[in-house]
Amino acid sequence: MKSWDLRPSKAWGGWVFSCLAFCFFVLLISVPKKSHAQTRQAQGHEWWRHAVFYEIYPRSFADTNGDGIGDLNGITGKLDYLKALGVDAIWITPCYPSPQVDFGYDVSDYQNIDPMYGTLEDFDRLMSEARKRGIRIIMDLVINHTSDQHAWFKESRSSRDNPKRDWYVWRDGKGNQPPNNWLSTFGASAWKFDPTTGQWYYHFFYPQQPDLNWRNPQVEQAIFDVTRWWYRRGVAGFRLDAVDTLFEDPQLHDNPILPGKNRYGDPNMENRYNTKLPELHDVLQRLRQVADKHDAVLIGETWTKDVDELKQYYGGHSRELQLPMDFLFTTVNKLSPVEFRKQIAAVDGAGWPVYVLSNHDIVRSYVRYGDGQHNDAIAKLMAALYLTLRGTPIMYYGEEIGMTNNDPKRKQDVKDPIGNLGWPLEKGRDGERTPMQWNPLPNAGFSTGTPWLPLAPNYKTHNVESQLKDPDSILNVYKQLLALRHTNQALADGEYVALAEEDPNVLAYLRRYQSEAVLVILNMSPSVQKRSLNLTPQGFSASESTTLLTTLKTRPGTLPLDSFTLEPFAVYIGSIKK
Ligand code: NOJ
Ligand code: CA
Repeated sequence: MKSWDLRPSKAWGGWVFSCLAFCFFVLLISVPKKSHAQTRQAQGHEWWRHAVFYEIYPRSFADTNGDGIGDLNGITGKLDYLKALGVDAIWITPCYPSPQVDFGYDVSDYQNIDPMYGTLEDFDRLMSEARKRGIRIIMDLVINHTSDQHAWFKESRSSRDNPKRDWYVWRDGKGNQPPNNWLSTFGASAWKFDPTTGQWYYHFFYPQQPDLNWRNPQVEQAIFDVTRWWYRRGVAGFRLDAVDTLFEDPQLHDNPILPGKNRYGDPNMENRYNTKLPELHDVLQRLRQVADKHDAVLIGETWTKDVDELKQYYGGHSRELQLPMDFLFTTVNKLSPVEFRKQIAAVDGAGWPVYVLSNHDIVRSYVRYGDGQHNDAIAKLMAALYLTLRGTPIMYYGEEIGMTNNDPKRKQDVKDPIGNLGWPLEKGRDGERTPMQWNPLPNAGFSTGTPWLPLAPNYKTHNVESQLKDPDSILNVYKQLLALRHTNQALADGEYVALAEEDPNVLAYLRRYQSEAVLVILNMSPSVQKRSLNLTPQGFSASESTTLLTTLKTRPGTLPLDSFTLEPFAVYIGSIKK
């Protein structure tokens, strides 16, 4: 019998009434006010389409116990900040127990929290505080590999006939050489010899990250159970790490060698037989079936070479990942309207787009696009671009205040092992993982101890406290953009319509929704640009646009479309009606 089948008898009807009244009162005070995203969900849209996601690298967000490493309580303490910013969901990179060889991407227990980040109780408190604010939590699921310290691998390596032997990829070598020529993406052979059993195991990443064998159904069962366990704890989905590399060719064909060498001094290689094997899509579709039972979202770390590959991750009839990340967008490294237009059009046609500017593996967008002179204006311009496109944006912590990279200057300062392996060509990823800049005080308010990484040099000017006071700051532009996204129907649901498609300096487009549209005009050049726009072919005869948000100095209330002037890197966003 289900709980809603219970019928109260007359004798205890009064008691039931009092209980119901009390529950109603509790609900009234504890249910968060519905966000616009939730309201739209009621209209039949899945919640993740209109949610703004925010990636938190927990080591670097906020430290509450003074050990120089951020923690879960630190995140809980900043939920009000995130709510005020306009964030709907946070993705926390791995905070599970881990030897931290790859700073958490080497998981030694999927169902716990590493003591350096707190406890499961801290996690539950974070979850309930986030829920009160209408913020969802997404965990990082590392499914390609575990840590070599995971109990599964310890068992697997203990003997050739251990029941978990086949949970990982073990092979005989060729004499004293590895089984084939595959290379780790972090340098050198992807095979490590294990003297205990005289065989080699496969690791696409560090040797301390042995690959799981996804051809073994028990592996699938175990990982799917992990997801169910976190769903029951309240998580709203997962960001799936390294999904491209789940399967390997069982025949172990050698990969083709390409001309030249990579940053580790290894020959360049086409990873034809150990990445993007078709079998991985079957796994992702089954993982999606589990997610669907929990109204959860799956975000993919999908490094695709083109949009056709990206499309495969959505799966036919959208039965695979709801949000495969479009990293192709991050490969447009210069402010080129032509390149962005091409990329946006391609992804817009592939499925529901997912826009990312940077993350813990990619140089911060402030540096990638900045010209050294107009960096703040460019940061606002990039925000205006990816927060007004049709799709789901995933922000990276600190992007909203213009955090910059702080790459190590000396090899001995490097923390990320790939920086050591590849120095000096590969300096590692420390630069984009520096502590969040909360205020202009020592350690930027991140920690009372010594931060695990030195702060980026711009923390005295680019920090939350200072930027909250400045109405023109990058942070306030982000807040306005996010508020607009959450309230403007055309920005949420309107189609993307490219304008002036040949323009080499100004990127302009509409988000058209029924009889209205949002007009976005972005001057991607360092010079003043004069333009006019005729929107009759797009169905709008209006001669002017009503300003919603702009960085133009004159702050015009309306923009005449037959002639307007854009300052360098200016942003203009307006509303037009038919
Ligand atoms: C992708 C993660 O984003 C990266 O930080 C990590 O090193 C690799 N996957 C291996 O898990
Ligand atoms: Ca700490």
